[in-house]
Amino acid sequence: MEEIGIKNKHRVQKHGEVFTPKKIVKSMLEIQEVNEACKSLTSTFLEPSAGEGAFLTAILERKLNIVVEQYNDGLERFENYSLLTLTSLYGIELLEDNAQTCVLNMFQVYYDIYKEQVQLHNGELKKKVLDSAKEIISSNIRQGDFLSRNTIDGKPLVFSEWSPINMRKTTKNIKIQRTEYTLDEIYENTEKEFGEIINKAINKTIEPYKQLDMFELLEEDVESEKEISKKMRYIPVNITDVYTKEMEEFYE
Ligand SMILES: C[S@@+](CC[C@H](N)C(=O)[O-])C[C@H]1O[C@@H](n2cnc3c(N)ncnc32)[C@H](O)[C@@H]1O
Repeated sequence: MEEIGIKNKHRVQKHGEVFTPKKIVKSMLEIQEVNEACKSLTSTFLEPSAGEGAFLTAILERKLNIVVEQYNDGLERFENYSLLTLTSLYGIELLEDNAQTCVLNMFQVYYDIYKEQVQLHNGELKKKVLDSAKEIISSNIRQGDFLSRNTIDGKPLVFSEWSPINMRKTTKNIKIQRTEYTLDEIYENTEKEFGEIINKAINKTIEPYKQLDMFELLEEDVESEKEISKKMRYIPVNITDVYTKEMEEFYE
């Protein structure tokens, strides 16, 4: 069947939206250095204009096939290493519909290959594995403007680094430390504390004409001061549990 690379003329003119056909993606991934990088589970890729994921899905397929070949001595190993592979693929896409399709396409590739492995091992699809896959994909593929490094509403684009902290040849259950960075921080090579998240500012506004109990107001102030100094960070978890987004409080 013929592939359609264009949705409409306006989108081509305004956003340069032309999707790369599978055949061309395939030949580009055959370039030696790229091909080598696809064979390493942890080599990272960032597609700054991801579209519907023509490149990212093809890279994911290749990387997952390596997991199938090398980590097939049990479903648990496949689950752990396939999720690790997912953490290495990042994308940015300006248009909402494309970004959503890209996330769905990535999940579909993951789901199909996972399901094959489940059948091969006479196992069952695990909800926590699928939920963790969704969490990783939706954190790594973001809608935004690569040029301004911001989301559509002007906030910094945030990505997670997923560091395995217990990797040995025999590791079955991979433990992951997640840390958040803005795209600016990634470019500036900013060092972060393990687990740090980008602080989502708490903007408490006091409505000017509302009758306020003075004691209530004082209590609110104490509360908001506490919220400013209190920070949250991710704690290390098994990779199949990253969907829980487990955090702990800490004070600076
Ligand atoms: C030529 S298409 C390529 C899509 C995909 N890489 C492929 O090969 O099929 C370019 C894509 O970049 C997106 N785009 C345009 N400007 C962008 C920007 N500043 N930041 C992120 N994405 C952008 C468009 O919406 C479009 O989906």
